[in-house]
Amino acid sequence: MNETISALLLAWYDQNARTLPWRGIHDPYRTWVSETMLQQTRVETVRGYYERFLARFPDVAALAAADEADVLKLWEGLGYYSRARNLQRAAQEIVRSYNGQLPASYDLLKKLPGIGDYTAGAIASIAFDIRVPAVDGNVLRVAARLMNDARNIEDTAVKKEFRQIVWEVLPQHRVGDFNQSLMELGALLSLIHISE
Ligand code: ADE
Repeated sequence: MNETISALLLAWYDQNARTLPWRGIHDPYRTWVSETMLQQTRVETVRGYYERFLARFPDVAALAAADEADVLKLWEGLGYYSRARNLQRAAQEIVRSYNGQLPASYDLLKKLPGIGDYTAGAIASIAFDIRVPAVDGNVLRVAARLMNDARNIEDTAVKKEFRQIVWEVLPQHRVGDFNQSLMELGALLSLIHISE
C-alpha cells in the first residue's frame, strides 16, 4: 500500500460512503458510542439503538449518572452487555478525571474501560483528527486484499505486520475518513459476500 492507495480510498469514500447518523458530526461522545456499538454488530442494526441511546443519554454526564438498569435496557438485543457496562464505567471516569470530556489522546482513551486499540484509534482519528490507525477485522481483510496477501489475518504476527503497514500509509490529512474508508470497504465487501 502506498500514498496512491490512500488517495484512491479517500476518493472512493467520498463517492460511496453510506450516510450514517454518526458521520459528519463533531462530538467525540457520539463517535465513541457508535464505535462501541459497532464492535460486534452490523451498521443496520446499530442505527436504531444509536438514536435511542443518544436521545436518552445525550452526553457523558447523562450516561455517567444513569441507573445501570436503564443503560442495559437500551442495549437489550444488541448483546455483549459488557460493552454497555464498560461504557457507563468509562463515562463515570471521564466525569471524574476529565471534566466530562473525552481525552484527545490515543493513550488516555485506551486506559478507559472497554476501549482497546481499535476503538481508541477510531475515536482519536475520527473525533480528534489524531494520526493513528483503527484496525479491525474488516480493515485487515481489505489490507490483505490490497496487498494480495493470502496469509491468515487471525494470526497475531500477521495482524501486527498489517497494523504497521496501515500506520505507514496513513495520510497527513483526513485520517478519520481514511480509517473509515477501510472499514466501509470491508463492511461492504462482507455484505456482498465476496470477501473470500
Ligand atoms: N465499523 C466500525 N466502525 C465503522 C465506521 N465508522 N464506519 C463503517 N463501519 C464501521
